[in-house]
Amino acid sequence: MKLNLALVKGDGIGPEIVDSTLRVLDKVAEKYGHQITCTELLAGGCAIDELGEPLPQATVDRCLESDSVLLGAVGGPKWDTLPGHLRPERALLGLRKALGLYANIRPAKLYPALRGRCPLRIEDTFDLVIVRELTGGIYFGERGRREGPNGQEAYDTECYSVMEIERIGRVAFETARKRRKKVTSIDKANVLESSRLWRETMHRLAAEYPDVEYSDMLVDNAAMQLVRNPAQFDVIVTSNMFGDILSDEASQLTGSIGMLPSASLGEGSRGMYEPIHGSAPDIAGRGIANPTATILSAAMMLRYSFGLAAEADAIEDAVNKALEAGYMTCDIGGQLTTDEMTDKILGFI
Ligand code: IPM
Ligand code: MG
Repeated sequence: MKLNLALVKGDGIGPEIVDSTLRVLDKVAEKYGHQITCTELLAGGCAIDELGEPLPQATVDRCLESDSVLLGAVGGPKWDTLPGHLRPERALLGLRKALGLYANIRPAKLYPALRGRCPLRIEDTFDLVIVRELTGGIYFGERGRREGPNGQEAYDTECYSVMEIERIGRVAFETARKRRKKVTSIDKANVLESSRLWRETMHRLAAEYPDVEYSDMLVDNAAMQLVRNPAQFDVIVTSNMFGDILSDEASQLTGSIGMLPSASLGEGSRGMYEPIHGSAPDIAGRGIANPTATILSAAMMLRYSFGLAAEADAIEDAVNKALEAGYMTCDIGGQLTTDEMTDKILGFI
């Protein structure tokens, strides 16, 4: 198979972890007889530095021509003082929107080898997926500043259409069908009108999936339940902002945010795959970042965008075996550098 990838290495540790991941992809391509071509594109802080804007149109166009996008991380303190529309994060949000990637799939599972890193005292291990709505809600609603009765004020608005709720809901129910058949929809329906529409719509959808166990949960309770008993969750479906917050919370339960991959999907097979962590400017350039989240994101890419399940399994198994053998970067209690960890994973493919 020919895989035509767009690479957005980005800022901070982005280039290091994407380079590691490319080594893994090359090995898989060689072993299974695929041909990977990569086009490197600028987005984020590095694009601001070189071209004066976080998301050049050429990057969007090339991504649209690719089969799939692999992204490292964007952002850093260097660009923190720029106005909102010029910040590196705009690149991420702009790409998600331009590529129509409304469904963000964020699996969080506790590897047996990392049990000791989980900050909770829990009996069970857990394996859940957060299905986060990615192109709507308060991230993309009307916003601005204005003069109010007490001087300057600022506002952001949360808005969801039935269509947007339904399509993300379907992704969650379909995902659950391939797993333990349980969906928990998380909202704030006791306060927010947009959450009430969310809940109504999810209930209607749940009736279409009688084989899937459905429940709703308020987001404050969900934040608590995640640390009380994460094993109760299979598939969580939620809005853009709640999903952002809860996925960071869930990631920490796995031992390190350096472990969690993500897939952003839309209607077609093209997706964008990235670790859920950021650009980690504090350790950038030191060669110690954990490449696992990006490597696992590449596995998700092979599975979701290219239907290459055996290849995806091979990567996921290799990560598991490397961890089982005690190979770890410093964020999860080990001492390996990024390159060494990558070598260990490669060794199991
Ligand atoms: C994420 C990140 C982004 C988000 C930021 C960098 C814009 O936190 O992917 O979770 O909020 O979606
Ligand atoms: Mg986030």
